[in-house]
Amino acid sequence: MSASVTVRVPAKVNVQLAVGAARPDGFHDLANVFLAVGLYDEVTATPADELSVTCAGPDAGQVPLDRTNLAARAALALAAPHGIDPAVHLHITKDIPVAGGMAGGSADAAGALVACDALWGLNTPREELLDICAQLGSDVPFSLVGGAALGTGRGEKLRPLDVGGTFHWVFAVADGGLSTPAVYREFDRLTEGTEVPEPVASQELLDALAKGDATALAATLSNDLQPAALSLFPSLADTLETGRRAGALAALVSGSGPTTAFLVRDAESATGVARSLLASGTCRTARTAVSPAPGATVVRA
Ligand code: C5P
Repeated sequence: MSASVTVRVPAKVNVQLAVGAARPDGFHDLANVFLAVGLYDEVTATPADELSVTCAGPDAGQVPLDRTNLAARAALALAAPHGIDPAVHLHITKDIPVAGGMAGGSADAAGALVACDALWGLNTPREELLDICAQLGSDVPFSLVGGAALGTGRGEKLRPLDVGGTFHWVFAVADGGLSTPAVYREFDRLTEGTEVPEPVASQELLDALAKGDATALAATLSNDLQPAALSLFPSLADTLETGRRAGALAALVSGSGPTTAFLVRDAESATGVARSLLASGTCRTARTAVSPAPGATVVRA
């Protein structure tokens, strides 16, 4: 067994988020096209007297350090069936925006799972790890696998997708967060009394991803949660408009928001759009990143 294990896990953007009507269990069936982007959290697991979590990074103050933290819950979920005492210290180096719609908490859960699995020498089969991920949250399985995938069910049933090139993005981090359940509730309110269609993945979008064609992808990006996120956070409309004017090929809310995502032509355009977004004062910070990115990976052991 190693003294400590560090795992790097990417953020995600949903290039398509098609949302169906609320199910009896409160969740929504999705056609969720995930794309991992190269903004990463790192989770380091080190043997300790008891389970504890610390977090470093500019927004670390917003991350709960008790057992509600998804990384702590991941360690507990892995330890329980093996009868292992989860005496581990989990340190999160956080670079993914917190409560931003980029699966930062899910990334930390997947990272903790892979780190503890290696630390405890369990060699848990991939399918079992994915089952634990799905219990922890709808987006956690994708954080484990990375790349690109179509998520159905509540987003946890994954089919890997081909990506034929590199896509360049800018992410505008808003001042404040949005709660995912609140955004889904707003979706329910806004669609009340209407027939919500079955969520279906767009073949044009899957083709654009497979070809690595940014212009075609830009024409097909969609997020059914965007009206709900804008309803709860109206100033995001200004951020989206600023990025479009600055030359982004397309702009959309990332997942449940409030991070906004801008698909751009190349690295140079990314720098320009990021600069315009920052100068506009319509966001707290702007980050550039490329996709796809690999899933949870052990980087130090
Ligand atoms: O699965 P996860 O814990 O990430 O979901 C957070 C919340 O988002 C759920 O409690 C639910 O309110 C909402 N959600 C949903 N339908 C999904 C995924 C999430 O309604 N497919």
